[in-house]
Amino acid sequence: MKVSGALTTGFLIAGIAVVGWVWMDRMRASRMSSVTAVQGRGAGLLRPDDAALVALGEKVYARACANCHGANLEGQAGWRNRRGLAPAHDESGHTWHHPDYLLVQFVRDGTVRIGGTMPAFGGTLSERDILAVLSFIKSRWPARIREAHDSINARAGGRG
Ligand code: HEC
Repeated sequence: MKVSGALTTGFLIAGIAVVGWVWMDRMRASRMSSVTAVQGRGAGLLRPDDAALVALGEKVYARACANCHGANLEGQAGWRNRRGLAPAHDESGHTWHHPDYLLVQFVRDGTVRIGGTMPAFGGTLSERDILAVLSFIKSRWPARIREAHDSINARAGGRG
């Protein structure tokens, strides 16, 4: 009698421990996913996985950007060695070094006002067009560059 009573108590304690452990693990998991959800929101304005937006961006790019930045995002020949030439938008360029909000500003305001040669598109492209063309550009980067750019956005304080 005594032995089986001790056994029952033992099983009970073990059962409570397992339930408690599973419960704590669940709590931890749900806290983690809410953190990543917040980071996800701060991680940027561009949506390189949105197929419709990327398709629109590809059209905008061909029409408005390719003549300078190259049909394959390769930049103007010799852009590395001479100022004023349009740089590459692929992984070899420095577009991905900038957080989303700066890229949007770049396209909207251009650099003519600050002495560069990149035209401003704020008057001819809608905000959706601008987000689309930059999302298209990001969709062409390899996964490791996209991840690096996500981190740059996160460091920019969620301003995207
Ligand atoms: C007339 C040529 C020209 C056209 C057209 C043009 N760009 Fe540019 N772009 C430039 C130049 C040149 C620079 C480098 C900055 C400078 O020298 O002023 C630049 C820089 C940029 C940058 C910053 C890149 C970096 O590495 O910092 C982005 C982003 C950009 N362009 C996006 C676009 C997009 C998107 C389009 C199309 C909507 C476009 N550009 C059309 C010439 C052009």
